[in-house]
Amino acid sequence: MPGRDFVPPSVLDTVDPPEHTRLRALVQPAFTSHRIDALVDRIETVVAPLIDELAETPGWDVISRIAYRLPLAVIGDMLGTQRDVEVELMRITAGLLAEDTDEHSFMAHRTALHSLRDYLVELIAEKRRQPGLGLTSALAQAVPTTDEVAGYELVSLLVNIVVAGY
Ligand code: HEM
Repeated sequence: MPGRDFVPPSVLDTVDPPEHTRLRALVQPAFTSHRIDALVDRIETVVAPLIDELAETPGWDVISRIAYRLPLAVIGDMLGTQRDVEVELMRITAGLLAEDTDEHSFMAHRTALHSLRDYLVELIAEKRRQPGLGLTSALAQAVPTTDEVAGYELVSLLVNIVVAGY
């Protein structure tokens, strides 16, 4: 849109092979059925209290009660953030759900993407200092700190996974 600068585009779903193949190979290990199966217990731990809460109210909306809260908890785990980060991620990404149809919601959307990117840049730095399990550590180790382009790509890939997953 004329006059609107753009936040770095998500990566995976905006490129074709061979670029897409290279990027997909970087994140694929976090999405193997084996890795996803290993998340099942954690997913059940997140879902159980959400379901219990539903029993307390006669009517409820799946989007606000489940779909808003479940993905960020699990994606947080996949990225290797500390537990119970979903509230922080929900605060950061709230603007992502804005429809981007007017100036206000466009700004909310862009602010959310910037906050998410800043959050992930800090997470990458943390995982470089203290590598752990999860996708962020794996990617941080695959991308040398000296490679600025790859560093930018790394952040965009993680933004892509959070946005696409949420
Ligand atoms: C109800 C759940 C979901 C639906 C219906 C869904 C649907 C889709 C669809 C239709 C695409 C293809 C888009 C295209 O080709 O342009 C896609 C791509 C993608 N999705 Fe999902 N998705 C879901 C959940 C997730 C989750 C939980 C994650 C990550 C944690 C995720 C990450 C991605 C990524 C990274 C891509 C790009 C893949 C690529 O280009 O290689 N999605 N999704």
